[in-house]
Amino acid sequence: MKPNGIELVTDSEVYPPSDDTYLLLDAIELGPSDSFLEIGCGSGLLSVAAARTSRRVVATDISLEAVRNTRENLIRNSLDHRCSVIQSDLLSAIDPNSKFSIIAFNPPYLPKDEHTSDMDRALVGGTVGVEMTERFLSEVSSYLESQGSVYVVASSLADLERVEAAMLKNGLRVERTATKRLFFEILQVLRGTP
Ligand SMILES: C[S@@+](CC[C@H](N)C(=O)[O-])C[C@H]1O[C@@H](n2cnc3c(N)ncnc32)[C@H](O)[C@@H]1O
Repeated sequence: MKPNGIELVTDSEVYPPSDDTYLLLDAIELGPSDSFLEIGCGSGLLSVAAARTSRRVVATDISLEAVRNTRENLIRNSLDHRCSVIQSDLLSAIDPNSKFSIIAFNPPYLPKDEHTSDMDRALVGGTVGVEMTERFLSEVSSYLESQGSVYVVASSLADLERVEAAMLKNGLRVERTATKRLFFEILQVLRGTP
């Protein structure tokens, strides 16, 4: 997906589009017949881009500020009629009978350390960093179409192999689809298919 021409504002309490956001955006292949679910939409760049292309888009976040921010950005881009935005802890508010062809999550993936910040909810995935992703992967398969794909971002600052193992354990074949080397970490997009 491409961010070209998307107009975006970011609330000061919401995660702004960053290297991981753009890496995931670039890795996702989406067509008009796809149905797209984003977990942890933040300020909404991925879901706004998906709403330009895809027939059905649902964006979720646990943070009410993120839900409001994504709605605002959909309205700014005249795409609010093409995407529902709901507050949800991972998949808990999604109808269990719903299926999607693409599900994406740029999760909080960093390990907890002694520093705390207002952005921890967007950044810290647990003691070793991968716990939130593991919880997501244990729930996601039943929402995925049989030919569908799930995309997650992982970081070398956490345990990438543990994320891959969680995908396999939950019946997903794993492919490393995109990598970005930053000064202090390597970001990886993993794609899982049933
Ligand atoms: C790294 S940010 C990614 C935001 C956006 N998708 C992006 O790529 O720029 C992680 C997002 O996950 C959300 N989040 C954290 N815990 C969550 C949970 N249990 N369920 C749903 N979303 C959650 C945070 O509020 C935050 O917006």
